[in-house]
Amino acid sequence: MIPISIPNLSGNEKKYLNDCIETGYVSSVGPFVARFATSVAAVSGAPYCSPVASGTAGLHIALVAAGVGRDDLVIMPSLTFIATANAAAYCGAEPWLMDVNPNSWTLDPEDLQKNLATETHQKDSQIIHTKTGRRVAAIMPVYMLGTPADMDAISRTAKNYGLPVICDAAAALGARYKDQNIGSLDVTATVFSFNGNKTFTCGGGGAVVSSDKNFTDKVNHLATTARTGENYDHDAVGYNYRMTNIQAAVGCAQLERFEDFVSAKCRIANAYRDAFKGLDHVTGFPTPVWAQSAHWLSGAFLTVGEKQIKDVLVSLRENGIDARPFWTPLHLQKPYQASPRGSLEVTEDIYKRILPLPCSTHCSGADISLSVAAVASALK
Ligand SMILES: Cc1ncc(COP(=O)(O)O)c(C=O)c1O
Repeated sequence: MIPISIPNLSGNEKKYLNDCIETGYVSSVGPFVARFATSVAAVSGAPYCSPVASGTAGLHIALVAAGVGRDDLVIMPSLTFIATANAAAYCGAEPWLMDVNPNSWTLDPEDLQKNLATETHQKDSQIIHTKTGRRVAAIMPVYMLGTPADMDAISRTAKNYGLPVICDAAAALGARYKDQNIGSLDVTATVFSFNGNKTFTCGGGGAVVSSDKNFTDKVNHLATTARTGENYDHDAVGYNYRMTNIQAAVGCAQLERFEDFVSAKCRIANAYRDAFKGLDHVTGFPTPVWAQSAHWLSGAFLTVGEKQIKDVLVSLRENGIDARPFWTPLHLQKPYQASPRGSLEVTEDIYKRILPLPCSTHCSGADISLSVAAVASALK
């Protein structure tokens, strides 16, 4: 089967891993961790970076550091991977699910503004969700498939309501928003994943970047079991969320090829978009005007009925392509079915039509042609 997105480990990964074994630095103490933090900060344009064990851990700890707690609500799009919601649930909070914009598949700023204006009231300088009486504690835009949300509009609303913004940029390292690097946007924190299926991997891993030194110190402290010194003294319930030197060694090697990987993903996205221009009922994935996407995943957006979508999936699998349905939105997932939600019309309409196709950085032109031909033959 031709995979959808697998790591490209043909650089210095092996050499740096050997270095970890030979020096004995395999845990969270080791030179690659600091080097990785510096590299992530540099390529994302962020002043500060905390490497962590996974993207999910990064989202969780960023929410904790932003003050999210028990019974709070955290605003997020329903169209995301379940980890976004799980991070809020680990805080004892619950998602407030909102819709995405049809032209970007990211949190719709107008919907956000309207929901906050009509569904909340202010009490003692807190934003209260009127129906449930719960405090609204944060906004989590998701940079869907590597494409930033419309952050100027979202940040404006967040400021009006005094809400912290934790961006789930799991797959978006390499993206830009209106020519600005995403690590330098005016938000509380931006979180990346370095899971095995991402453009840049550590095997597993994550990073929290921020422009706020106090916030970063808090994240680092909480991720290190909230330990206060050399002795076993701790001043809070912390977490063991540190990245290991082994993870960071792989990540350092990956980031040495930052430009190459980003341009490979961009080339693949353009190849699909161009190929689908000549076909009916299918386009590539959207790139809104404000975004230079990191194009983590590329593929087909199908404007046909469910039966034909199934035919396309069968055709791809018969041609040896490991295609499968994409994320089921959060409001249809068992743990979050009862979570507060706004209208999810766009999400409901599009989620089954999104079909990622082979797009690893070393994916060949032949793999792309085969995928396009399999889609075309099923749509005929
Ligand atoms: C949108 C989104 N959020 C969060 C995560 C969680 O990251 P991790 O797998 O590193 O925990 C992922 C990816 O896996 C993701 O795609």
